[in-house]
Amino acid sequence: FKVPQVDNEPLKSYAPGSAERRGLESALAQMKSELPFEVPCIVNGKPIKTGKLAKQPIPSDHAKHLCTYHEADEATVAAAIDGALKAKAQWVTLPWNDRAAIFLRAADLVSGKYRYKLLAATMLGQGKNAWQAEIDAAAELADFFRFGVKYVEELYSQQPPKNSANVWNRVEYRPLEGFVLAVSPFNFTAIGGNLPGTPALVGNVVVWKPSPAATYSNYIVYQILTEAGVPPGVIQFVPGPPAEVVGQAISHPDFAALHFTGSTFVFKKLWKDIAQNIDLYKSYPRIVGETGGKNFHLVHSSADVDNAVNQTIRGAFEYQGQKCSALSRLYVSASLWKNGFKDKLLQEISSIKVGPPEDFGNFMGPVIGQPAFEKITGYIQAAKKAGGEILFGGTADSSTGYFVQPTIIQTKDPKSVTMVEEIFGPVLTVFVYEDEDYEKTCDLIDTATSYGLTGAIFAADRNALILATNKLRHAAGNVYYNEKCTGAVVGQQPFGGGRASGTNDKAGSISIFYRFVSARSIKESF
Ligand code: ALA
Repeated sequence: FKVPQVDNEPLKSYAPGSAERRGLESALAQMKSELPFEVPCIVNGKPIKTGKLAKQPIPSDHAKHLCTYHEADEATVAAAIDGALKAKAQWVTLPWNDRAAIFLRAADLVSGKYRYKLLAATMLGQGKNAWQAEIDAAAELADFFRFGVKYVEELYSQQPPKNSANVWNRVEYRPLEGFVLAVSPFNFTAIGGNLPGTPALVGNVVVWKPSPAATYSNYIVYQILTEAGVPPGVIQFVPGPPAEVVGQAISHPDFAALHFTGSTFVFKKLWKDIAQNIDLYKSYPRIVGETGGKNFHLVHSSADVDNAVNQTIRGAFEYQGQKCSALSRLYVSASLWKNGFKDKLLQEISSIKVGPPEDFGNFMGPVIGQPAFEKITGYIQAAKKAGGEILFGGTADSSTGYFVQPTIIQTKDPKSVTMVEEIFGPVLTVFVYEDEDYEKTCDLIDTATSYGLTGAIFAADRNALILATNKLRHAAGNVYYNEKCTGAVVGQQPFGGGRASGTNDKAGSISIFYRFVSARSIKESF
């Protein structure tokens, strides 16, 4: 069985007057006229309405909500785990090419039939503008499924290089014994599909708890997977209160793995809880997590100012700074800062429009919810108190939606709070270093935070790039030269970081698939 050639999903432009603009506008209008939707849990392919209702508000207009969803209760989670374990018998024995075909078909449904609906749900529910929704819910999601199939084909072909006469050595990549728990975040609809999809592709069964703030788009992803042919029970859709759903799942003897994207705090807590339960489990669980970041741009005196400024604006403020990869600390050379960088930065940021994401003129939308709004505005206040100078923005308004203006803070203290703590919002803190302190600044970047997710180095001088890359060996799992620190593409830049940012198992690459299989060596003599 050879997988067909796969490629990255081409991005649509949504230019005014284009067919895709009309298609998306009509999906948005339809969704707005029909909301709020009702979302059940799905266990063994059947909807379960627990009656424990919760709402997913629309962050740009929080008086409205996109959906009401039924939270999984104890009986539902128990039935989901039980049903998944039963569904496994058939899923495991399905020929690999049948599982692959299901995910290739799911990718086509994402990029075709459901594209605008997925985008509309991501825009309304998670506050992304059309282009940010396109790179996530259309392109990255389809890419995860298509490249996933390619990677698994490659994985299965990893076989021992040596056999002797009358001996055939081989390795079988079995799915894990038990079930996988997938806990997905609000900020990428694609991650919603990838966290259950990756383990399922290699024959696992998955209990999937989506983020409350992405319930509706993730429900559509679930429906796509079902329409593509994922059998009932293989992926169980159980939205609900994290502590209860996750707590129950990791207290089960058949818990085999956690596939998590979310906060560092929650990931560490789960790791400790899993450790507490270790005697309960049949196998040591695999723990795979992608968590926080405090991502940096380092701008050398030789850098191209126009490019570095443009990439800085995009890295920090696209999707309101709510990508785990988003830029939040900028280290820029004093000579460049004085000679055009600062002026250009302030000029570019002042052209950013903030408002509802369905208005195509807005570069930024709302932040995801009230707690995020309060946390972000709290950090802006804390920076001011600590002597930071607000160069731009600093204001916010939550009367209709959770809107925070893009904000730039300049600090003289490279250890100040907004320079070292994750904010997860549109706040960029700048530290201007003396040109001769470039090497020292690398040390500063390396030691200022506990994270290690993404970073970018801007320099025309190649020695400056190499020096920083060598000194910052573990400060980022994804490094960019002369480009922003966001926007890793599946099949091109395997994504993930170490330190407090995660287990660095690299989403969108073959590496992550090894975490969800348990290899068995077979020696046959004949
Ligand atoms: N993979 C996403 C990015 O690189 C998070 O921006």
